[in-house]
Amino acid sequence: MNVGGVPYRAIFTERDGREVRVIDQTLLPHRFETIRLKSTADAAWAIRDMIVRGAPLIGATAAYGIALAMRADPSDASLERATALLAGTRPTAVNLRWALEAAGVLLRGLSPGEREDAAYDFAARLCEDDVRRNRSIGEHGLGIFRDIARAGRQRASGGARQLNVMTHCNAGWLATVDWGTATAPMYLAHDEGLRVHVWVRETRPRFQGAGLTSWELGQHGVPHTLVSDSAAGHLLSRGKVDVVIVGTDRTTAAGDVANKVGTYPLALAARDNGVPFYVAAPSPSIDWSIDDGASIPIEERDPEEVTRVWGVDEEGVERHVRVVPEGTRAANYAFDVTPRRLVTGLVTERGVCAADREALGKMFGRQTARATARSTAPRPPPRPGG
Ligand code: MRU
Repeated sequence: MNVGGVPYRAIFTERDGREVRVIDQTLLPHRFETIRLKSTADAAWAIRDMIVRGAPLIGATAAYGIALAMRADPSDASLERATALLAGTRPTAVNLRWALEAAGVLLRGLSPGEREDAAYDFAARLCEDDVRRNRSIGEHGLGIFRDIARAGRQRASGGARQLNVMTHCNAGWLATVDWGTATAPMYLAHDEGLRVHVWVRETRPRFQGAGLTSWELGQHGVPHTLVSDSAAGHLLSRGKVDVVIVGTDRTTAAGDVANKVGTYPLALAARDNGVPFYVAAPSPSIDWSIDDGASIPIEERDPEEVTRVWGVDEEGVERHVRVVPEGTRAANYAFDVTPRRLVTGLVTERGVCAADREALGKMFGRQTARATARSTAPRPPPRPGG
């Protein structure tokens, strides 16, 4: 997508394809800067400190983290060390494990001399696949948007000529390599002239909605309005939201959805008001090894993310400020789980399906985690002479 008219991806390479760069998302929306990841340790730091974030981008950064390790030292020990370091960065997004497993399967089957090229090639193809997958999610989501807009026009309910979409957090292009998942249908709808307007929830505590989704949508010219997280129930109850679409960090094989904390109460309010609640779920975000959302590890982050906020003051100076009495104890749960019964449908790259084991099984076949890694991860490059 474009930044000031210049096309960017959230992660990209330069020079001979060996220099890895990412957008520093901790500085947005106030500063746009890219940063070079020079080592596996840099990649692990970038994921842990949320320089990059969003499940698909975490997976892509991990893949490049492995490539950087193979460049420095292609031995088995180095591969194991890099895998362990990256795997320990963030616990909830299953794309991290998916990318590391697929890279491990590929690289362990090669000699050390073949690994650097293969690892970079793997990471590059993982990124291209992510872009294709998201574009495809966009097309399936666009079908949903068109249907809802058509039905809304027929009802001609007071001023509802525009399609009002609500989203949470940032499941946008910044959270992926490009397009985003939940945002892909918004971009396509806007581009084809469907009058789409997005309610952006600020997404406490880190403000991914306020800082990132608003910025992205603004760069692309998609009309949007920022609201506090707690305003969602009011808007839903007054008929001001036609459809909700969010991303996911991990969806179980039976359709329970872990996503940014606040998603579950949003789904409850949507259900109570009869508003469809969709989850954009690319296949690498599906954890085929578990059914019950209660088994998903929920990340707990530094309480300072709750007790302090960061922004720009009236003089344009960036500052952190404390918003609670000094010494207040705070807890910072980063994700919650929305039970499948509240999900109207999963928008995957293969189409839209119900959030249940049978529908997911039909869509993707009965897959194990490892088989998914093999079937949806980029194919290994041909062996020399093979
Ligand atoms: O903590 P974050 O910012 O990494 O959380 C991101 C989300 O919850 C997204 O909705 C999810 O990763 C899907 S991104 C396409």
